[in-house]
Amino acid sequence: MNTQTGALLHQAHMTTIEALQKLDEMIAAKKAPAQDDLLARQLKQLSRTLRSEVESHFAFEENHLFKVFVEQGETGIVTMLTHEHRSILPLALQVADLAVAAAESGFTDASWTEFKDAGAELVEREIFHIQKEEMGLLAAISALVDPETDEILADTYRREVG
Ligand SMILES: [Fe+2]
Ligand SMILES: [Fe+2]
Repeated sequence: MNTQTGALLHQAHMTTIEALQKLDEMIAAKKAPAQDDLLARQLKQLSRTLRSEVESHFAFEENHLFKVFVEQGETGIVTMLTHEHRSILPLALQVADLAVAAAESGFTDASWTEFKDAGAELVEREIFHIQKEEMGLLAAISALVDPETDEILADTYRREVG
């Protein structure tokens, strides 16, 4: 059974994966890319997608969706995914901040190295997290969330995350 909430989360996951793949391609280069308008746009877009994922999307999962799971005694999956959020969030904000700074004034050798290292770690952790949610979380939503609650959760998601 498909849920509205599951579909909204899935959509956001795909957007994030796409952004992470672009990031992965960018950091595969040995040298920092030259600063131009296109790069600046890409970096700003990356920063927006990352922030939306780890601020609004994570907050929705933790504050609304996981509560429904905990009420039904499903604490294992909630603990695991929340723990992963904690390890991804600071890294994603670090990459987002570096991206915005580089969009404005380009990379220095030091900021490029930091961007590459944090970016590589972020790609790994976050893709793993999303894969886990795509495999386990969406099915759990179908199993545990009744249609009425699904409606409420989906409305909340549209309102708070967009
Ligand atoms: Fe998610
Ligand atoms: Fe998550």
